[in-house]
Amino acid sequence: VPGAMAAERALAMATCTAPVNIAVIKYWGKRDTDLILPINSSLSVTLHQDQLKTTTTAAASRDFTEDRLWLNGAEVDVGQPRVQACLREVRRLARKRRGGSEDAAALSLLSYKVHIASENNFPTAAGLASSAAGYACLVSALARLYGVEDELSEVARRGSGSACRSMWGGFVQWQRGERPDGTDSLAHQVAPETHWPELRVLVLVVSGQKKPVASTAGMQTSVETSPLLKHRAEVVVPERLTQMMRHIRERDFEGFGQLAMRDSNQFHATCLDTFPPIFYLNDLSRHIIALAHRYNAHHGHTKVAYTFDAGPNAVIFALADTVDEFVEVVRRSFPPAANGDQFVRGLPVGSAVLPQELVAAVVTEPVPGAVQYILHTKPGPGPQLVDDPSQHLLGADGLPRRRA
Ligand code: DP6
Repeated sequence: VPGAMAAERALAMATCTAPVNIAVIKYWGKRDTDLILPINSSLSVTLHQDQLKTTTTAAASRDFTEDRLWLNGAEVDVGQPRVQACLREVRRLARKRRGGSEDAAALSLLSYKVHIASENNFPTAAGLASSAAGYACLVSALARLYGVEDELSEVARRGSGSACRSMWGGFVQWQRGERPDGTDSLAHQVAPETHWPELRVLVLVVSGQKKPVASTAGMQTSVETSPLLKHRAEVVVPERLTQMMRHIRERDFEGFGQLAMRDSNQFHATCLDTFPPIFYLNDLSRHIIALAHRYNAHHGHTKVAYTFDAGPNAVIFALADTVDEFVEVVRRSFPPAANGDQFVRGLPVGSAVLPQELVAAVVTEPVPGAVQYILHTKPGPGPQLVDDPSQHLLGADGLPRRRA
């Protein structure tokens, strides 16, 4: 059908997926709030997209009359400065690439309006960091649409600082950089996801969360008021980055886990040192911290390590042979409300019978229903292109498809 052919040519579309990441050396504080340049480098583990991912479709057509954006099916303001910064920067790279080329089709694509639809495969209400995956995915999909193959962590950074780390899989460092224009504030892979096959991640999604202070606002107050944060950025983090890279290289769980816990604790200490103070940890987070330490003390070494971002969900690192037992410890410590929901999700977890001494030493004062569910995952790859056109989130009319 000639009409259909013409419509096809007039509509270009690309779909990508991108992962969530969890920092083990935390980013907290900007030296430039517009360019999103951090006061310290950071290091993270990219989580597997089988459990947590964002999918984004970007389309351009001469028939579109305005740029539009849908998140989880609902239209949102495309004019948000960070979305605009990402759009502008990808288009700038595309123009630079096409510079001097005779590719009229590519050039006209750049002049068309875009429609963008983005979805998470995890409930937004769970309070899992979605902005990192979201901006990494937006930038990946736009880059595909325009045929840009450059290093894109610099662009993702303009969406959300932590998003630059979601542009890579495995173990990722975001180098703070020195230049005022941010061209050297980039993420790069320290080790691929295959480097440490035994490493596992348990996300403990806690119940009844209040919306915490947004990280963007929180970290700015910290930069302005916390002397501890200044010391952390100048002295502590540079030392810890070197140590953490070594622990990862050597697959030293004891070293990795201890340092991850200490760095999470210091990040939350800088929040308390902020004036007025910011509280991201709550009683339940502290309960989980104490549980992890009792568990490690019982075993006489670091078997599990916790880390918390700007919210009360706990992320636990462990080696595969610890998962079954620790999940049972969590189940006994936070007996799930019997509402039929799956308590353990993601990768399979085997059953474990806990020795009586372990229960006596570790499972003190159970808090029923406090943990909503546990998501079992592992390190995973960076953003992926989705080849199958049936997976596009936008239909041939450029509007969101009905969701299943
Ligand atoms: C506590 O990347 O969300 O998760 O750059 O303002 O968008 P903006 O902040 P964001 O901050 C993340 C902070 C953190 C630690 C981390 O991921 O390193």
